[in-house]
Amino acid sequence: MRTADIVILDFGSQYTQLIARRLREQGVYAELIPFNTSLNDIKAKEPKGIILSGGPASVYAKDAYFSDEGIFELGIPILGICYGMQLIAHHFGASVVAAKEKEYGKAQIFFKKEHELFKDTKDGQVVWMSHSDKVENLPEGFEVIAYSENSEYCAYGDDERKIYALQFHPEVAHSTFGNTILKNFAKYICKCESTWNMGSFAKLQSQKIKNLVGDDKVLCAVSGGVDSSVVAALLGSCIKDNLIVVFVDNGLLRKDEAKHVQETFKTRLGINLISIDASETFLSRLKGVTDPEQKRKIIGNTFIEIFDKEAAKHTDVKYLAQGTLYSDVIESSVAGASKTIKSHHNVGGLPKDMKFKLIEPLREIFKDEVRALGLELGLSRDLVFRHPFPGPGLAIRIMGEVTEDRLELLRKADVILRQELKSTGWYDKTWQAFCVLLNVHSVGVMGDNRTYENAVCLRVVDASDGMTASFSRLPYEFLENVSRRIINEVEGINRVVYDISSKPPATIEWE
Ligand code: XMP
Repeated sequence: MRTADIVILDFGSQYTQLIARRLREQGVYAELIPFNTSLNDIKAKEPKGIILSGGPASVYAKDAYFSDEGIFELGIPILGICYGMQLIAHHFGASVVAAKEKEYGKAQIFFKKEHELFKDTKDGQVVWMSHSDKVENLPEGFEVIAYSENSEYCAYGDDERKIYALQFHPEVAHSTFGNTILKNFAKYICKCESTWNMGSFAKLQSQKIKNLVGDDKVLCAVSGGVDSSVVAALLGSCIKDNLIVVFVDNGLLRKDEAKHVQETFKTRLGINLISIDASETFLSRLKGVTDPEQKRKIIGNTFIEIFDKEAAKHTDVKYLAQGTLYSDVIESSVAGASKTIKSHHNVGGLPKDMKFKLIEPLREIFKDEVRALGLELGLSRDLVFRHPFPGPGLAIRIMGEVTEDRLELLRKADVILRQELKSTGWYDKTWQAFCVLLNVHSVGVMGDNRTYENAVCLRVVDASDGMTASFSRLPYEFLENVSRRIINEVEGINRVVYDISSKPPATIEWE
C-alpha cells in the first residue's frame, strides 16, 4: 500500500520540514524520514519520488551522512537539495570541495536550457542559497539546467534516470518560484496527483492503525492538550473498544487542569478516561533534581512505568499511542542528522527497555496540521486551539528544584496571565503563553517594608509550528496589568519580567 507520494530523506537541514509542508500545501503527501532509513523501508512506502534534503555536513567529511546508495537504482525520480545535491554529485563521481566563496542569501539564477522542473518560473528568478561547499565538475550523464554568478552548476539533472539536483533551497519563501519548482518535480517528473488533504490523511492513518493493531489493545495517554486529544479521537474512530485512554495526573499540571481534562473527555468526546493520580510519585522522584535533561528523563520514565502498571490490568495491551509531532522528533534528534536540542519526554525520554510498541500517527505532521486534523475529526475549536502544554509540565517551567510550594506559586501566577490573555482576546492571537518561576530572588519594597522574594518571567510567543518563534508584541498596558496583578495577588513574588528572546537562538520553554 502506498503510504507517501514523496519521501524526503532528512539530512538535518533546518528547512527540511518546509519541503514537506510546501508539497502537502499542493495536495501531494510528502513524508519525512531519517536519511539512513533502510532501502526496504523506503520501498515499502512505494513513493513516486524521493527528495534528499539539505544538511549541515560535508559529503567529503569523515562524519558525512549517506543514505543507502540503492536509492539511485530504484528507478524512482530523485531531487537533491543543497547537501542532497552534493550527495548526488559525489555518488556519481563528481568532486565536491569547500567553496572559496561561501554563498548565503539571495542569488539570481539563469536557465541554460528549458526544463519542466522550471516550468511557469522566470529566467533570472531569485533563489535562496545557503552553502559552503560546491560541486566542482558535473557528474557524467548530467546536464546543467540553470546557473548563477557563483555557481556554474546551480541546477542540473539527468532526464533519463530522472535524477535532479538544486544548489539552492526551493522550500524557503525567499526563493520566489520555489513552490512551483517543487510542484513541477512532483507533478511532471514524479506524476503525483494533487489528491491529498487532511481527510485523506485521517483515512490513511486509520487504515494503517487498524492493520497494525488487529485485535490487540492500545493504551493512549492523554494530557488534555491538542496532540494527545487528536490521537485519542483518531484511535477512537477506528479501533473503538480496543482503545484504553489513560490520564495521568503527574502533579505538574496547571491549576484545575486535571478536572478540566476529565470533563472534556467525558462530555465532549464521549470517552471514559481512566484517571491515575501519580503526583506523589513524580514529585518524590524529582526531589533535589535541578538538571533539565534529568528532569525530562525522570518524568518520561515514570510515565512509562505507570502505563506499564495500568496495561498489566488489561489483557493484550501491546501498543502505546502518543501525540508526538515532527517538531518533537527533530528536536530530540532521533529523526536524523540534526543535533539534540532537548529530550522531548515523549520521544527522547523513553526508556530503552520499554515493553510497548509505539503508535505515533502525528509523527510526520506539524502543530497547525494537527489542528486541521482535529477539526476534521470533529473536535471543538476550543480544544483544538488550546495553547500547547509540554509533557513534562510545570517541571520545566520551574528553574531549579521542583517542590509543591514552588508549583503552587507558579500556578497562581499562571492563572493570572491566562485570565488576562483570555479577557483581552490575546489568547487566540498568540501561540503559547506561560510563566516561568526563576531561581533568583530580588529585593523589593512593599508598603514600607523590604521584600526579598521570587521573580517570574512571562513568556508569550507567536509561532506557526513551534519550530521558530518570536516574542509577542503585547501592549505595555497589558504587561503592566499582569505584572501588577501577579505582584499584588501572589504572595512570594515581587518581580515580573518579560522574555524578549526569539527561537532560535532561545527555545520556547526555558528548559
Ligand atoms: P521548545 O521549548 O523546544 O518548544 O522551543 C517547542 C514546543 O514544544 C513544546 N514542548 C514539549 N511538548 N513534550 C511535549 O509534549 C516535551 O517534552 C516538550 N518540550 C517542549 C513547547 O511547549 C513548545 O510548544
